[in-house]
Amino acid sequence: MKILVTGGAGYIGSHTCVELLNDNYDVVVLDNLSNSSEESLVRVKNITGKSLEFCKADLLSKKQIAAVFSENKIDAVIHFAGLKAVGESVSIPLRYFQNNITGTLNLLAVMNDFNVKNIVFSSSATVYGDPASLPIKEDFPLSVTNPYGRTKLMIEEIMKDLYHSDKNWNIALLRYFNPVGAHKTGEIGEDPSGIPNNLVPYISKVAVGCLPRLSVFGNDYDTPDGTGVRDFIHVVDLALGHIKTLPKLFSNPGLVIYNLGTGFGYSVLEMIKEFEEVSRRKIPYKIFGRRPGDVASCWADPSKAKKELGWEAKKTLTDMCRDTWNWQKKNPDGYQ
Ligand code: NAD
Ligand code: UFG
Repeated sequence: MKILVTGGAGYIGSHTCVELLNDNYDVVVLDNLSNSSEESLVRVKNITGKSLEFCKADLLSKKQIAAVFSENKIDAVIHFAGLKAVGESVSIPLRYFQNNITGTLNLLAVMNDFNVKNIVFSSSATVYGDPASLPIKEDFPLSVTNPYGRTKLMIEEIMKDLYHSDKNWNIALLRYFNPVGAHKTGEIGEDPSGIPNNLVPYISKVAVGCLPRLSVFGNDYDTPDGTGVRDFIHVVDLALGHIKTLPKLFSNPGLVIYNLGTGFGYSVLEMIKEFEEVSRRKIPYKIFGRRPGDVASCWADPSKAKKELGWEAKKTLTDMCRDTWNWQKKNPDGYQ
């Protein structure tokens, strides 16, 4: 079976390529390297001892996508490619709509032309907005507060319409909670360009001495210690969720939706404490006001994925911090 992985050079994509190769799938990566480095794919090959094909191509070019489908007999697509910085999406929304929505429309049109109708899409827990209760189930109402989230919700709706128009499509919408961690070898991990926006990459840059201190956005939430609570999930568990989704997709399920989370929430302060213990470094931090758009708490009910895919997250908060720290120490400048 040959899987096309869009955005496969990126953080979650590269970890998923490792697990696909470990599971003996043939892998073709399509990525324009706008937020990644080809070095991640060299490392994927080193970890697995297997090769994959890399096509430097942009989803904004239908011609480039079609060339990949002409040269390869693709069985299914895992679609990671997209821009993902929430704050940036507020300042340059048109670029987000253009890249994420137009890119996805182009991909779906080419898939349709080549009669490849199996796709796994990277959605996000952001589509649940501020949930009325916890844990979050797949049938909760959907709403978004920023252009990035809107691209995820719009793509979900587009894929639902597509499925209703043609029941030959098999579509899995995977809603990720908060992916963190790195491969245990420390060869691949998250490599944000510039100053990180997300909590764990920021903490690890503070621990390694690249940034002086963490800003904690709010300690007055209605949570046990007042700081935000999230369902952090190890990126390798998340990657394995995709591996478990593929057989489901090939069983012609139609359109299916799964939360990929652990079902547990940890606060910002708990994450800082765990990272300090694992790294044996002090993480200086200062409390600031709330970050606009943040919710107090967010964690998944992952029981549907367990029941229907036979998947559940296994790695602990300690694993997440230890593997992030291992990657950060081995690669203080990322892939550069
Ligand atoms: P990432 O930025 O590391 O990977 C995305 C990849 O897509 C990059 O390699 C980038 O170069 C590529 N890309 C972007 N636009 C492209 C285009 N037009 N053509 C070809 N390639 C393009 O991000 P990630 O953290 O690995 O996230 C993967 C997916 O999961 C994204 O769709 C993201 O929105 C989604 N997601 C991520 C998180 C998270 O916290 N990391 C949470 C929920 C959902
Ligand atoms: N936080 C800080 N300081 C920082 C960064 C974050 O205190 O420097 C706090 C936030 O306020 C929040 C928590 O840490 O309470 C987690 O924030 P992240 O930015 O790491 O993650 P988010 O939950 O905001 O969002 C992430 C991804 C989104 C995705 C969402 C899915 O960035 O793309 O998870 O739930 F949609």
